[in-house]
Amino acid sequence: MKRIGLLGCGTIGTAIAVAIDDGTIPRAELTQVYDISRDAAEGLTAKLSRKPTIMENPHLLSSGPVDIVVEAASQGALTDVALSIIQNRRDLMVMSVGALLDESVRSVIFDAVREYGVSVYVPTGAIAGMDGIRAVRDELDTVTLTTTKHPDSLRGAPFFDVHDAPDIDSIDAPTTIFEGPAVDAVSLFPTNINVAAILSLSGIGGNRTIVRVVADPAAVTNTHMIEAAGEFGRMQYTIENRPSSENPRTSRLALLAAIDMLRGYCSDDGLGFPCT
Ligand SMILES: NC(=O)c1ccc[n+]([C@@H]2O[C@H](COP(=O)([O-])OP(=O)(O)OC[C@H]3O[C@@H](n4cnc5c(N)ncnc54)[C@H](O)[C@@H]3O)[C@@H](O)[C@H]2O)c1
Repeated sequence: MKRIGLLGCGTIGTAIAVAIDDGTIPRAELTQVYDISRDAAEGLTAKLSRKPTIMENPHLLSSGPVDIVVEAASQGALTDVALSIIQNRRDLMVMSVGALLDESVRSVIFDAVREYGVSVYVPTGAIAGMDGIRAVRDELDTVTLTTTKHPDSLRGAPFFDVHDAPDIDSIDAPTTIFEGPAVDAVSLFPTNINVAAILSLSGIGGNRTIVRVVADPAAVTNTHMIEAAGEFGRMQYTIENRPSSENPRTSRLALLAAIDMLRGYCSDDGLGFPCT
């Protein structure tokens, strides 16, 4: 039985907690949870038959009886608590992957992982095909991600504050609002473009992976088109994700990928793949 702590009780956190509670993730016990919003943590525990303890602060999450802490909160939350989780010798699963494109954050986390002998797990989230990208990473010349979302899914991103951006309500046709390196995309769209970080970490890094963000008022899916080319040949594929019913920014595939990775971690068949 693996003991799981949960940081963040929103869309993804709730899906994971319910999957543990109803047995979709066998051999798992949700022992403790934390959310910056006490209401969110209480709302989540109310849905569960086996109640975890609600912790008073995020650092306590890893000092109690847990094998792994699942971060499903925000890039800031991950940056704040990753080190204390690892120093407490707990494994860590990361959903706010964009934080890992910051080289200083990544090196602190990965150095600590080596020192304390734990593992960091990064589910493939809202994309697929990362096995292929990883296999050819040494032969890749170019990787481009074109993400198309409804403007409502992009609303509130810092991009609209710091750039000479179009008024989101005036977009009436598919419009490329951003094109640049993934490392910039994840800070300008921190809750919308985690896939850029997953693709970068699997392939040629956040400076060389190019991201296009397209706002399309007719979009009913969150669509990611990946194009990769190099000595190995060329790949091009598209994933059309249904947004989760609770949060239009989060695709249903991201919830399912997280649940699947935890299922592997909690089983003893060795199918939980660590990132480090
Ligand atoms: N890897 C992927 O493919 C992928 C896909 C979708 C979302 N995400 C990321 O996963 C995270 C969770 O997504 P979600 O859809 O569940 O979001 P959500 O907004 O539904 O829930 C996030 C929860 O975290 C809490 N929270 C925010 N900051 C916190 C902090 N500093 N400390 C503690 N709790 C905090 C919020 O109160 C909220 O309850 C986000 O960062 C999101 O960008 C990753």
